[in-house]
Amino acid sequence: MHFASDNTSGAAPEIMAALIRANDGYARSYGADAAMDRVTALLRDLFQSPEAVVHLVATGTAANALAIASHCPPWGAVFCHTHAHVAEDECNAPEFYSGAKLVLVPGNHGKIAAETLGHALATTGEGGVHGVQRGMLTLTNVTEAGTVYSPSEISALTALAKAYDLPCHLDGARFANALAATGASPAEMTWQAGIDVLSLGGTKNGCLGVEAVVFFNPEKAWEFELRRKRGGHLFSKNRFLSAQMEAYLTDGLWLRLATRANAMGQRLAAGLAAKPGVTQAHPVQANMQFPMWPEGTHARLERGGAVYNSIPVAKGREAARLVTSWSTTEADVDSFLAAF
Ligand SMILES: Cc1ncc(COP(=O)(O)O)c(C=O)c1O
Repeated sequence: MHFASDNTSGAAPEIMAALIRANDGYARSYGADAAMDRVTALLRDLFQSPEAVVHLVATGTAANALAIASHCPPWGAVFCHTHAHVAEDECNAPEFYSGAKLVLVPGNHGKIAAETLGHALATTGEGGVHGVQRGMLTLTNVTEAGTVYSPSEISALTALAKAYDLPCHLDGARFANALAATGASPAEMTWQAGIDVLSLGGTKNGCLGVEAVVFFNPEKAWEFELRRKRGGHLFSKNRFLSAQMEAYLTDGLWLRLATRANAMGQRLAAGLAAKPGVTQAHPVQANMQFPMWPEGTHARLERGGAVYNSIPVAKGREAARLVTSWSTTEADVDSFLAAF
């Protein structure tokens, strides 16, 4: 009954087996390993993007912060959702690596509202040399509210940024969950929708610790490499990152794991919907949900052995953030519902 995050799960057996295999013998270091070439080939194929350049890091924060730094000058504004992970949960790493300023753009259910973004873009840079300039756009899919942008919603937002020639980044810590939820192809969800660079998560969805940064516009990839080394995020034994990513992308494992996580989210949401006094703060579309329920429920769930994060909410009500993962079982969900 562990619903605190998808990163409280272990690693999938296929990933661990790949790591054991990768441990045999010798491999070139710092990303020159043969498995890294295979990861690049797999991603180019999956994303129908023959020129894409791929680099690996071990955390989502490094992927986001270094991708942003490679695309935004220090005097630029990084437009992001008010509750974006880059804004609330990365200890200013994006600002640290880029020197840029995050400009928060609100919107319901974790999604940036097009009108608000349009206004923010139009009014930024008006102060001339004295003020912040337009820099780039970053979106998150699955969003921090557990909702999912469709490719056309992403296109609508990137089109606004592209009108000012701004690069667009997608934080895809849960990218596979977004694909599983929408049925969109990787290409439709990214470069065909105006995304220039993607942080493609592995860790939350069954890897031990790896994220791929995929450059659909390879021009910035070399700068990323320099920043990754300078920032201390270049692994000498890169083969252990590439082995994970290769196994993750092979035979559709990434989508199978995400489909499972999403299905368990739906099972949990359906069970909660049948309980008296439960409402969801946001539509449940992938593997993360924010139910609100009557006071006293937390204590009962905790006594029953459930582990999850509660979040502040109005008096008389309690709210939670529940995340299902690749390893969540029907029994986990049903025990939670029984404890409820
Ligand atoms: C949307 C999103 N982006 C990025 C990250 C960063 O991942 P990490 O904790 O590996 O730095 C997370 C992790 O919670 C996340 O939820």
